[in-house]
Amino acid sequence: MNPRALMLAPLLGLGLSACSPGAPAGAAPIERPAQLGMCASCHGVDGIAFAPGNPHLAGQDEAYLRLSLQKYKSGERRHPPMQAVVGALQDADLDALARWYASQPRQGQRAAAAEAADADSGGAN
Ligand code: HEC
Repeated sequence: MNPRALMLAPLLGLGLSACSPGAPAGAAPIERPAQLGMCASCHGVDGIAFAPGNPHLAGQDEAYLRLSLQKYKSGERRHPPMQAVVGALQDADLDALARWYASQPRQGQRAAAAEAADADSGGAN
């Protein structure tokens, strides 16, 4: 057993679900929230949901996301799975998660960025 691999293992875990594809490398300047693993199975690490019925959160207005989370927590907005998941979280966690998802590129922006990268690599000079 390689001892260095054992030391790295906790750093790589980050509490994310095994099936998530991971955040876009270096794309987000915002620090990854500690509680992101609680959301990623439904909303994705990057805010692009992969199951029908789960809303995309990437690039959504930060204040709207924070307010929505606070409303689930207070019971003003009712959706039992969301209420259950935010019930255990502190306001600081909700802020961090709202900031994270708001900072992620939307689906359309992703496609545009990929096209721009293609154009750059194939362009003159
Ligand atoms: C079990 C799946 C599931 C998990 C886990 C989950 N969500 Fe959700 N989330 C949903 C669904 C479904 C909705 C839509 C609910 C509704 O109709 O109000 C939603 C709605 C939301 C909304 C409101 C979106 C909007 O456009 O109004 C926010 C914000 C949100 N979730 C954030 C989170 C965060 C942050 C976490 C982790 C702490 C999380 N969710 C965990 C399924 C989930």
